[in-house]
Amino acid sequence: MSSLAGRRIVLGVTGGIAAYKAVEVCRRLVDAGAHVVPILTSSGRRMVGETTFSALASEPARTSLFDDPVTPIPHTKMGQSADLILVCPATARVLSDMRTGRGADLLTATILASRAPVMVCPAMHAEMWEQPSVQDNLAVLVERGVLVVAPESGRLAGGDMGHGRLAEPATVVAAVEAALGGGELSGQKVLVTAGGTREPIDAVRFIGNRSSGKQGNAVAAEAASRGADVVLVTTQPNSAPPGVRVVPVETAAEMAAACELEAPDSALVVMAAAVADFRPADPADSKLKKADGVPAVVLVPTVDILAALGAVKPDGQTLVGFAAETHDLVANATGKLARKNLDLIVANDVSQPYVGFEHSTNEVVLLLSDGSRHDVPLSDKREIACAVLDAALGYRF
Ligand code: CTP
Repeated sequence: MSSLAGRRIVLGVTGGIAAYKAVEVCRRLVDAGAHVVPILTSSGRRMVGETTFSALASEPARTSLFDDPVTPIPHTKMGQSADLILVCPATARVLSDMRTGRGADLLTATILASRAPVMVCPAMHAEMWEQPSVQDNLAVLVERGVLVVAPESGRLAGGDMGHGRLAEPATVVAAVEAALGGGELSGQKVLVTAGGTREPIDAVRFIGNRSSGKQGNAVAAEAASRGADVVLVTTQPNSAPPGVRVVPVETAAEMAAACELEAPDSALVVMAAAVADFRPADPADSKLKKADGVPAVVLVPTVDILAALGAVKPDGQTLVGFAAETHDLVANATGKLARKNLDLIVANDVSQPYVGFEHSTNEVVLLLSDGSRHDVPLSDKREIACAVLDAALGYRF
């Protein structure tokens, strides 16, 4: 379960061009199970219509302090019942009103009428963002405990480049999940590996595999949403989900070294990476030339990272492995579960359609060391990640 399930979030949308991204934030929060109550300022309404938010959110969008169909005092009702108020995007104007405690409209009045944590996602042109007045307002708000999702650099409205662009929706949602935290993995370190290793043949060529890192990324994102401090050791750092610490690696040896360092104090280790079993014994430092003839590439075994972690598994640590098979799924996976001293193995038959490598869906059998088994039908990889964590945490299906 995401830490957002059942949580009430007031989503304040102010008048920045980036308001269009707040639509995606709204949808993602609702998808994660949150109850989203949108409030649009009058400038926000000029950017995106309230119909869009009413259709996607859990309640109709509110726009005014007055004439609410349900209550004469919407700001106190929404402020008191909120678990979090998210202002996305936050303009320079709203930051200023928040600093001075000016309840100028429904959104700022709701913020005043609430004891819930407030998170702002500033978005504005670089010149505005750099103004001492804006930075000063923000510094005061931070001092008072307001949470900030920092803007990013990139393309701004009108085609300019610079700093001040709203953070990506996934980053905003990850920040909300972390803020509401209190998840079952809160305060616990979780190590996840993802992607396929690349074993160099020469300076430009490598032996690789078809792993996209999607399943490992989904496990990392799910663990982060349950409050864990996630370390993701990955060969695909560019696709890593927000809210996790990324350790980029390329080869099995680099992944082994990173895992050896990060595993001992991890409560849970999920080895979702597709690690090469063999590597070229003697990779060339420069590019091999055709003219020199067909090279003889001699392979030697890599270290089995998971087996090595299983051999020194500390008390209380849960170790999860994956088994990608094309036949005798359960028998092969059960062998690996015992051989590598695992608590859980996630077995998938990668010969089936839409299963495993490169797909965004998977179908798995979860085999636990106590002999129990749970079959997860073809589902999105995030749902598979959810089932894997549920099983690793000892939930019964
Ligand atoms: N694994 C690992 N280090 C390796 C190879 C695999 O840590 N050098 C991990 C994978 O991340 C996965 C699990 O071991 O979690 C299963 O990998 P797999 O290659 O299927 O297992 P093997 O023991 O190599 O068995 P086989 O080659 O017979 O399929």
